[in-house]
Amino acid sequence: MVAEMKYNSHLLWRMLFFISAAWLMTDFIEVGSADCKNASLSDLNHQVKRFSQCFLEMLPDANRTEINSLAWSLQQVLDRLREVQRKDCKIFMSNNCSFPEAPRNGGLVCVSTDNIHYCKPMCNQGYDFGFLRRSRVYEKCGASTGYSWTTQLVGGNRLADCISSPVAVSGVKSAYFPSHMSCQETIANAASEVEQIDIFLRELAEAETDISHTLEVAFDCILCGN
Ligand SMILES: *[C@@H]1O[C@H](CO)[C@@H](O)[C@H](O)[C@H]1NC(C)=O
Ligand SMILES: *[C@@H]1O[C@H](CO)[C@@H](O)[C@H](O)[C@H]1NC(C)=O
Ligand SMILES: *[C@@H]1O[C@H](CO)[C@@H](O)[C@H](O)[C@H]1NC(C)=O
Repeated sequence: MVAEMKYNSHLLWRMLFFISAAWLMTDFIEVGSADCKNASLSDLNHQVKRFSQCFLEMLPDANRTEINSLAWSLQQVLDRLREVQRKDCKIFMSNNCSFPEAPRNGGLVCVSTDNIHYCKPMCNQGYDFGFLRRSRVYEKCGASTGYSWTTQLVGGNRLADCISSPVAVSGVKSAYFPSHMSCQETIANAASEVEQIDIFLRELAEAETDISHTLEVAFDCILCGN
């Protein structure tokens, strides 16, 4: 059992080194590292999930430097992944509207059609909106809004805030991610992501009857705050 742990731990360190190498040192990839050539995102995903289980019990008395080093490596990888997540959403939003900023502890479900962007702010469980927004399910940006985002806040592309709160009462029911399913968890699962997007599409079709026929071909994306 101990030997197995050591073996796993060795693999994990190698794997983490590999993650950093693959994603942080792009030059490294360009020079054609043999390791990076066989890199598979789904393998990596599987390995991280599998090995992280092993360390839940072992970590408390582990070497502090190794813990700090692991935290640092993962942080860098995470920063890079967040960048990629945002870029994927940016693609369909590139026009005169500024890119919206997702609230921390929540996210934005966004749909674009006919050059108009619609984003619904959502909060994770344990958080609520700073302003009452039951009559404002979503914000929008397009020619009709002078290419600026409608928002109750002063900040231009910040559409809503999610603040720590024991009760969630400021928004409609669908403006909160389900319990035990934060924004990041939601988008990590294709079915959960589609479910949230479909809810917003139905809300949009009801509220904006003139665009309901274009929603089938609309672009969509969920942006999560940190
Ligand atoms: C990469 O994968 C190929 C095909 O599976 C294998 O032959 C090769 O040895 C692998 N290279 C490394 C460095 O793992
Ligand atoms: C902790 O790990 C680091 C890096 O692997 C190593 O240099 C150091 O000697 C270890 N410290 C102890 C107390 O084992
Ligand atoms: C951007 O704004 C200009 C006028 O300010 C307008 O002519 C153009 O169609 C807009 N582009 C998009 C993609 O909405």
